[in-house]
Formats: sequence, C-alpha cells, structure tokens
Amino acid sequence: MPVSLKNLTTFGIEATCAELYEVHSPEQIPSYHGILSEPHLILGGGSNILITKNLEIPVIAIRNQGIHIEQENQSNIWVKVGAGVVWDELVHWAVSNGFGGVENLSLIPGRVGAAPVQNIGAYGVEIANALKSVTAWDKFTQRFCQISVQDCQLGYRDSYFKQKGKDRFIITEVTLCLQKPPTYKPILSYGTVLEELRKNYLEPFTIQQVRDTIVEIRRTKLPDPKVTGNAGSFFKNPIISYEQFVELQKDFPAIVHYRVHNEIKLAAGWLIEQIGWKGYRQGDVGCHPKQALVLVNYGKATGTEVWELAQKIQQSIFQKFNVKLEPEVNVY
Ligand code: EPU
Repeated sequence: MPVSLKNLTTFGIEATCAELYEVHSPEQIPSYHGILSEPHLILGGGSNILITKNLEIPVIAIRNQGIHIEQENQSNIWVKVGAGVVWDELVHWAVSNGFGGVENLSLIPGRVGAAPVQNIGAYGVEIANALKSVTAWDKFTQRFCQISVQDCQLGYRDSYFKQKGKDRFIITEVTLCLQKPPTYKPILSYGTVLEELRKNYLEPFTIQQVRDTIVEIRRTKLPDPKVTGNAGSFFKNPIISYEQFVELQKDFPAIVHYRVHNEIKLAAGWLIEQIGWKGYRQGDVGCHPKQALVLVNYGKATGTEVWELAQKIQQSIFQKFNVKLEPEVNVY
C-alpha cells in the first residue's frame, strides 16, 4: 500500500512512497539490509526536499532520540544526539542549559541527522562551528563508523555526504562540542542581529536573548512550514569569481554581495527580487513576499508546479545576470 508523504515533508505536498519504515534505534538498521541494497530514500525532517512524483521506492525515516552528555570540562561540553531529534529541540535544550554555539541556528526546521549533510547555517554560524563527529551506518562496509568533522568536509551548504559519500551513509548520531559562559561569546556580526538585540536587551547578551532574537527575526521573514509549505531557501547563494563580479557590479551597482576568500557570494534573494518574482503567486505556488529565496506551497501545489517555478526563476536569473542558481533543496 502506498504511503502518503504529505506530512513528512515541510513543503506539505501530496506524494506517496511504496513503503515507510521508521528507525527508532540505530540497532534496527542492519536488519534493513535487503531494503538498503535496493533503491530507497532516507528521510530526516523532510525540510530540504521537494518531491515531484510518487516514489516507487521505500522511504526510511530516521527517528532515534536522545541527547547524551559525553564529556565536560570548565569551558566545553560534548553531547551525542540522536539523528531523529528535532533540530530546534536540541537548540532549546542547549540554550536552556546555558550552552552556547548553536543559538544562531534556532528555529531551523529539520532533524539533527540531516544538519551535517548540508552544513546548516544561519546568522553567521554553521553546524561546522560546533560539530565534532558523526556516527553513521556505512552501507558499503555494513558497519557503524565514526566520521570526524574534518572528514565531513563541510563547506557552504555542502559536505562529504553530498559529494563522494553521497548515498553511502545513514547518519545515526551527531556529536557536538558546545561552549559554556563566561568564556563563550555569541556571534552577533550577521545582518541586523546586534541591532535587534540592542532594541530589547542590555549588553552582555545572554545565549537565551540571542536565541529569542534570532527566532523573532526568522518569524518576521520566513514562512512557518506548519502554516505555509516551504523548504527554507530554495536555492544556494551563488559564488562567482571576483572578475565576474566586477563586470556585474558595473551594470548593477547595488548588487548585494559578500567576500568569501578570493570569491564573491551573491544574495540570491536580491537577484530574484530584481526580476520581480518576490510575492509572485500562480495558483498555490509562489515566491514568498518577504524572502524571495523561499518558494511556497499555499495549499494544494504539486511538486511539479514548484519545480517549474524554480526553473523559470533559474532561467530568468541566468538571462539577466549570467549567474547559475543551484537548488539547495533536493528534488526527487
Ligand atoms: N535579499 C533581498 N531580497 C530578498 C531576500 C534577501 O534583497 O527577498 C537580500 C538582502 O539585502 C539581505 C541579503 O539578501 O540583506 C541576505 O538576506 P538574508 O539575511 O535573508 O539571508 P539569505 O542569504 O537570503 C541565508 C541562508 C538562510 C539563512 C539566512 C540568515 C542560504 C541559501 N540561505 O539566506 O538559510 O537563514 O542566510 O543567515 O544560504 C536555508 O538554508 O533554508 C535558510 C533559510
């Protein structure tokens, strides 16, 4: 019997899979050997995926829980977290215990196991800042293994798990190193974070105040997937050469950009807004009115409709700016 995936992805799009298996403990995984040797899909919180058709394959949803303190000293604490823990519940746990390092990643939808795969990031922090290692089931060797943060090869929305290690591992646990005050200083350099904090609090700011402020900023800009289906930023911010940037800036002096080593990262949201897509809606598919990088399902949009809009946006950006937008979301 096909199983609906509508409530298992944050886009909330109707699609089915052949069968659904839930992993509540990593020890279950070896017994799935038969399923794992055939085509299948591993699903975490479903917050970075667009499904455009019914899947004729089984889906394995990773749901194992647990936050365990492994080690602690005066300034740091190492925690091992089950891949199925909801990411923001982990952030809430860390902040309410006074541990810093992930508060800028508040309210990011999804589950812990997917966080290293795309190196989740927001407001000047990536999971790369706190990650120590991941524990994973290696489908090739059929063993559990430990992969160090160096071997995870984390980059901007990128990792070993999206490159050479693609489709090989099932992440079952993630070990993070969090930091304790007073040595810990939150990172407040991104955008309006500091300005917003100063409106409500006096310095030095607590980790809780930083979390509350990030939550507030996100709520004003980003649609709540429980209300309006979406998968956060649909595209990555494109990185171009300095030479290409200099040419572009001649035609578009106000172009929003950031220097990343010797290259330039552009704000895809700005590019999309320049074309006039921001706030666009056709039927139940749209480009969010407050953040052009977020594509939304207002109700009954299909995955194909969302993907068609994404492709139109890509084409128009390429025509106007000669820049290729790459999806951040995984499209199936
Ligand atoms: N901008 C516009 N119009 C828009 C959106 C953005 O002009 O409609 C410009 C603004 O100038 C703004 C700049 O782009 O100053 C950057 O915008 P914002 O701070 O909203 O961040 P972003 O680059 O659009 C990235 C991440 C988000 C993350 C924010 C905050 C990517 C692909 N996205 O978005 O991550 O929350 O920074 O750090 O890197 C996600 O990955 O799903 C996600 C939401």
